[in-house]
Amino acid sequence: MPTVASMDPRLDTTPGPSAPDGDGGHRPVLLHPLIESLQPRPGQIAVDGTLGGGGVTAALVERVLPGGRVIAIDRDPAAVARGRERFADHGDAVTVVHGDFADISPILREAGVDAVDLVTLDLGVSSLQLDAPGRGFSFRFDGPLDMRMDTSSGDPTAADLVNTWSEADLQRLIRDFGEERFARGVAAAIVRERAKQPITTTAQLRELVERAIPRRYWPRRIHPATRTFQALRIEVNHELDSLERGLQAAITELRPGGRLGVIAFHSLEDILVKNALHVAAQNCVCPPQQPICTCAHRASLFLLTRKAIKADPAEIAANPRARSARLRVAEKL
Ligand SMILES: C[S@@+](CC[C@H](N)C(=O)[O-])C[C@H]1O[C@@H](n2cnc3c(N)ncnc32)[C@H](O)[C@@H]1O
Repeated sequence: MPTVASMDPRLDTTPGPSAPDGDGGHRPVLLHPLIESLQPRPGQIAVDGTLGGGGVTAALVERVLPGGRVIAIDRDPAAVARGRERFADHGDAVTVVHGDFADISPILREAGVDAVDLVTLDLGVSSLQLDAPGRGFSFRFDGPLDMRMDTSSGDPTAADLVNTWSEADLQRLIRDFGEERFARGVAAAIVRERAKQPITTTAQLRELVERAIPRRYWPRRIHPATRTFQALRIEVNHELDSLERGLQAAITELRPGGRLGVIAFHSLEDILVKNALHVAAQNCVCPPQQPICTCAHRASLFLLTRKAIKADPAEIAANPRARSARLRVAEKL
């Protein structure tokens, strides 16, 4: 298994003095390799598309100031409010925006920025979101089955999905976005439960999933409800669609020599990131059997990480969330 130690030798991994630990209640994962591979410098313009607890933003601010600027985006109003307070002292050098990183381009135009040097995306949810029972992201606490990152949006919640979708659609969702082999049984259990009473809490969903998956097939390292919760979260937040659009927008907005660093936490995200970066790094995307190139596609990126960077055992021991993290870094040509 490749670890941080086996990454591109240009990317120094020695822990730096200013790598924050447990920032804002969320401990950023792979922070040091991310910062070392982006090499932020004073005067640069950086976008942190996933502000969260602000750990990555803080590391960027520390390095691009003086003279530079950081635009930090989050779709979670609570993260934005915390970020605005935390970075208020930096005035116009730090702009905290409530929005979806898929909309990086209009967000940058609004901020008066025409191109950027660095973009970071640290995907998924933060510990602050996971640990808030009222947000409904975690089966570890009982709470309303919400799961919206943007609580100000009128988008359907996870409860809306489980109570209204057809059994076939739920099965497809749990299979495709949760990679759950018992998707059929879980979907059937959801439909049975909601015929008795609406499913409104995380505990209700967790318990029915526990019953739907035979105990001898429970995964060893994760709770049996993990995959179902993941599937619902991805759908509720349109995560893969945002990621696809956000990656293309980030590539467009980078100036030549600018760098993009993306940290994924599950295989669907990582495959999407890997494919998008690999396609952007190719000069031709015609089917291999086609003798002559007709696509006119030209590489816009150089991959700085051929293989994803993973957390080393020490980071995983200190922070189990790091176990599934994959960092990929590319440079705009
Ligand atoms: C893993 S956390 C980021 C942690 C952050 N790097 C830190 O150091 O604290 C992911 C954050 O990104 C936000 N997020 C996820 N998808 C988003 C999207 N499409 N647009 C904007 N924010 C998003 C989530 O609300 C969450 O706060």
